[in-house]
Amino acid sequence: VTQVEAADHRTKVVDVAHRGASGYAPEHTITSYKMGERLHGDYIEIDLQMTKDGKLIAMHDETVDRTTDGTGRVKDLTLEQIKQLDAGSWFNEKYPQYANEDYAGLKVPTLEEIFKRFGNHRNYYIETKAPDIYPGMEEELLRLVDKYRINKRTLLIQSFSKESLLRVKELDASIKLVQLLSYKEAAVATDAEIAAWKEYAVGIGPNFTYLDQNYVQKVVKSGLQLHPYTVNETADMKRLIDWGVTGMFTNFPDRLHQLLKEQ
Ligand code: G3P
Ligand code: CA
Repeated sequence: VTQVEAADHRTKVVDVAHRGASGYAPEHTITSYKMGERLHGDYIEIDLQMTKDGKLIAMHDETVDRTTDGTGRVKDLTLEQIKQLDAGSWFNEKYPQYANEDYAGLKVPTLEEIFKRFGNHRNYYIETKAPDIYPGMEEELLRLVDKYRINKRTLLIQSFSKESLLRVKELDASIKLVQLLSYKEAAVATDAEIAAWKEYAVGIGPNFTYLDQNYVQKVVKSGLQLHPYTVNETADMKRLIDWGVTGMFTNFPDRLHQLLKEQ
């Protein structure tokens, strides 16, 4: 029984290290994921993009521009080209208070490298990004999950794309899915929406800003997991916990860990 499975029984609030401990280190690098582990994140959160030659890499954006020293769309670059890029120096420039010379020159990791490095006892929370422009990304993801014997009892696959989640379900019905949502105004979950999510997902991941207590209680009472993103301030974490969320995505997993310890 892993930490998260045990936690399920105590209904511990799940601490998801969003892009790793990305408040402290360059997002989606092995360094950031390691820090997430050290700062007590229960899950490593990974966004996936796919290279021109069909390799899954960890990156949030569809272009390499923001988080590397290169330019261009991931789908137009080979893995070899992406491996030339520096995925750490931008962080030192943007966040001088957390800068570290070891971050300069960090590489963009492939999903395969992440699985090799962290093994099959870690808990992964993996997002299919832009599945419309990457046909076959779900197949490749599940091929690697199987190759590295990733623990499917704790693995969560998330997406804003319902189609992508249904594709995963079609390929492997045993995988737990989380539907991401992006509200632009006060969030409401109707009975019909909740029933529709429950058809294929174990939970939902909405942006936290427009939630209220009614929404949280209604969703959680229905039996769905509720993991809002991206919650970085302790006061927001506390409010969401009081309302009853079952976990959350944070760039600062240590803050959530500390709060949960105090409760
Ligand atoms: O996956 C949860 C959250 O990360 C969704 O938003 O844009 O940060 O991937 P984004
Ligand atoms: Ca994400």
